[in-house]
Amino acid sequence: MSQAIQVAHPLIQHHLATLRDSHTSPAGFREQIHRLAALLAYEATQDLSTTEVDVTTPLTVTKCQQLTQRIGLIPILRAGLGMVDPILNFIPSAEVWHLGLYRDEETAQPVSYYSKLPKTEPVDLALVIDPMLATGGSACSALQVLAEWGVPRTKLLSVIAAPEGIATVQSQFPDTPILVCSIDECLNDDKFIVPGLGDAGDRIFNTQRNQ
Ligand code: PRP
Repeated sequence: MSQAIQVAHPLIQHHLATLRDSHTSPAGFREQIHRLAALLAYEATQDLSTTEVDVTTPLTVTKCQQLTQRIGLIPILRAGLGMVDPILNFIPSAEVWHLGLYRDEETAQPVSYYSKLPKTEPVDLALVIDPMLATGGSACSALQVLAEWGVPRTKLLSVIAAPEGIATVQSQFPDTPILVCSIDECLNDDKFIVPGLGDAGDRIFNTQRNQ
């Protein structure tokens, strides 16, 4: 079974408190998503492989380490977009492949509306990013697309997760580690994460009034 890692760090706890607060503005919410995505990415990338290279400093030539694997960031639209920039900042050479999925409000099932992965060789490692893992339907749909593309290694990064979603991903994708800032209590009858933070996509893009 894949690992589900709740990254315990005081900075994560601190920024999560502001993120959850219903009084936090969309601008403040976006800032917190950036901070938490960066902290999650730092944890998720600690086992990346590196290759030795020669670097000429102003004084001499020395051995250094550099990333050589192809890394893909896979944001699940819309909310996953909020996590792209801070991670791309850490991994400027990463490729970003968008997957458009929304959750049908009646059935809570994921509906795919955008996927344009290349036919060329898949990336070596794909980081699937989405602030919320609720039932796990959207994450599993994204991981299935990546499996069909032939990606050998995947990790799922979510800010908050419900135990139900973690269990679903673990059962369908046992080799995919899941990194989260918080494993919340449960899903409510509408399949929303409790205590949660509301709808991340709406809070990032200031579209809550469309609910
Ligand atoms: C939310 C969230 C995840 C999904 C989680 O997206 O960002 O993608 O729901 O739910 P699941 O685990 O039950 O599939 P939403 O459908 O609201 O779309 P949005 O990002 O466009 O707001």
